[in-house]
Amino acid sequence: MLIPTAPSLLLAVRGEIVHFTDDPIGHGVEACVHFPDGLLLVRDGHVLDCGPAAELEPGLPMNVRRVDCSGKLILPGFIDTHTHSAQTEIIASYGEQLTTWLEKYAWPAEARHADPAYAAAGAGFFCDQLLRHGTTTAMVFTTVHPASADALFEAARARRMRMIAGKVLMDRNCPEFLRDTHTVGDAQSRALIEKWHGRERLAYAVTPRFAPTSTEEQMRRAGRLFGEVPGLYLQTHLAEQRAEVAWAMWLYPGARSYLDIYERFGQLGARSMFAHCVWLDDEDRCRMAARGASMSFCPTSNLFLGSGLFDLGRARDFGLRVGLGSDVGAGTSFSMLQTLNEAYKVLQLAGQTLTPEAGFYLATLGGARALYLDAHIGNFLPGREADFIVLDPRATPLLEARIARATTLTERLFALMMLGDDRCVTATYVLGEKIPA
Ligand code: GUN
Ligand code: ZN
Repeated sequence: MLIPTAPSLLLAVRGEIVHFTDDPIGHGVEACVHFPDGLLLVRDGHVLDCGPAAELEPGLPMNVRRVDCSGKLILPGFIDTHTHSAQTEIIASYGEQLTTWLEKYAWPAEARHADPAYAAAGAGFFCDQLLRHGTTTAMVFTTVHPASADALFEAARARRMRMIAGKVLMDRNCPEFLRDTHTVGDAQSRALIEKWHGRERLAYAVTPRFAPTSTEEQMRRAGRLFGEVPGLYLQTHLAEQRAEVAWAMWLYPGARSYLDIYERFGQLGARSMFAHCVWLDDEDRCRMAARGASMSFCPTSNLFLGSGLFDLGRARDFGLRVGLGSDVGAGTSFSMLQTLNEAYKVLQLAGQTLTPEAGFYLATLGGARALYLDAHIGNFLPGREADFIVLDPRATPLLEARIARATTLTERLFALMMLGDDRCVTATYVLGEKIPA
């Protein structure tokens, strides 16, 4: 292979490489690309090539920057399609279901982010947690305060992360101290879009928290804004708990379903991300697929709050775009490995399964597709942004004992998704640069 100019900038990472060019479910084994002794070549923050070391080594120039990761797995950075930057500190708060959990834990935590200094410290810690768990891209709810969105975008920008985020819109059914109005919320969102959307690796998501906490006028304006600006995202919660569905239907009489509320207000389309999607019917799935909307599967949160079991098989039947969401702080881990652990068990309960390959696809390229970012991230095709992680499959004594008996990649990936967490992430690279530990 001939290496083009500027060889001094070339980074060559050697180890066991795994990435996906498609969903292994439905596209067979070739969708999973595996080089047991592979080389990932990175130049100027982008993937130059990826293949067997024996093929690529002979063409390398002398002054290449080499990183030896033998014995470790090299994968694309994880993608978290749904989480909350201001809920880090309430992770693992005991004993409630959604509405009481919001009142008891989420509202007081989010209120603290009105203070820009507090928001900045929290956003920095949140981004560092994502990175130490191997997550390089996330779609994030901040709080109702524009300062918390500014803080998150600043923190992501400083770390060069891909980040999609928005200020929460919420003008009813929440405490006075967390309420905006439809005019103020709209104006604040527009100002944040002006400031951050499309800047470097950042994008803005219009963020009506969920239908019950917005008035019809706020919902209407959110839908209008979403349709106005090219490339803009929209994120919200949908059909998480049965009581929440009943509440939404009561607040919006005449709607066919909870999803229909969002559709009526122009919020259903390509780049709209709906977290949870537990209590849907096939008409909802059909509408979502037809509009190109995406779902975030949040297994740790759905189990923690007792919400229900996400039906991945049915989402697949409709060809829906699905990513994984940690949903911290109702979710119980930043780790996409732990999120896969619980996704597997949720599907077992539903008589379905999650093969390790399908799981790691969801955490990487599946998430990128759900965010319409697969032309930029999610795998190691030439030209992709070089966000990648190095996983040690022997990071703990227990993993070491299990891996000693694992003979196939499938077994090793499964051990990682069952037993792994941030201890397995030995390095996270963003745009080809290693994040300092
Ligand atoms: N629905 C509305 N807001 C929230 C939230 O903060 N967390 C979860 N899990 N569900 C929600
Ligand atoms: Zn959420």
